[in-house]
Amino acid sequence: MKNLEIEDIKDLQSIELLKALHILTTDGKINQDSRRKLKQVYHLFNFIEPLLLELQAQDSEMTLVDHGAGKSYLGFIIYDLFYKKIQKGHIYGIESREKLVLDSLALQKRIKFERMTFMKTTVKEASFSDLIPKKIDIVTALHACDTATDEAIDFALKKEAKYLVLVPCCQAEVAQYLKKNKAKKLIDPLAELWRHAIHTREFGSHVTNVLRCLKLEAHGYQVSVTELVGLEHSLKNELILAHKIEGPRQRTSDRIKSLLFDLGLQDLENRFLN
Ligand SMILES: C[S@@+](CC[C@H](N)C(=O)[O-])C[C@H]1O[C@@H](n2cnc3c(N)ncnc32)[C@H](O)[C@@H]1O
Repeated sequence: MKNLEIEDIKDLQSIELLKALHILTTDGKINQDSRRKLKQVYHLFNFIEPLLLELQAQDSEMTLVDHGAGKSYLGFIIYDLFYKKIQKGHIYGIESREKLVLDSLALQKRIKFERMTFMKTTVKEASFSDLIPKKIDIVTALHACDTATDEAIDFALKKEAKYLVLVPCCQAEVAQYLKKNKAKKLIDPLAELWRHAIHTREFGSHVTNVLRCLKLEAHGYQVSVTELVGLEHSLKNELILAHKIEGPRQRTSDRIKSLLFDLGLQDLENRFLN
């Protein structure tokens, strides 16, 4: 356990909030895991803050939905660093585990972050909730498990989100389909890319993120992919940023279709071509 170092903490950040989130101990110390988590959330905030400033300049509603919120570190810290000082905007935390939602609600009440809503629901169901506006400005998902990231993308498309900030977790669905069709595809030398089980998993994960980016591009988003933090901090480290700039692009949909065909993944057209 280390003493808190001032360079670890951003200006404006409430120390009380960090204690309430158990990132800091009651006597203000921080352990390695919490330091890593804080570094990750701050790094993500560095990407999100310019989007918020852009939205603020456009006088937008400043709505943000965080999917697979967990303990809602991200939502609480974004609120503390940005929303607290402005008089508008709303953050929604979507989480399927009741205990985590109840804890977030209790903390929200304590620290009076009024423009936050925590919902015990799945990402999929959240698309149909009357509590969430028809349009949302920013959709985030930090390590939302498996296909929750895909569902967050569908949510964002339905809500016409201007920006997405995604750090995907492991995804097993594509690997499952690669595995299912392995024998059939092995006549093709390309299938060497995923012949061994560990390669099926890793290649499946890579293909998933490639298809996610293409799907967003097909819907008119400008996409960039970068590292969240150095690999020593987290194994799931890919950060996908998307900004809606134009209408649908048929040529990109055609590329998704042919990629799925080449990989024997036509059964996943509903996932990536909707
Ligand atoms: C690995 S945790 C990440 C939590 C948080 N975003 C963070 O980075 O600290 C993933 C969270 O997503 C939630 N989750 C997984 N699938 C979900 C779904 N389909 N709908 C809503 N929440 C989901 C899990 O319960 C878990 O709390």
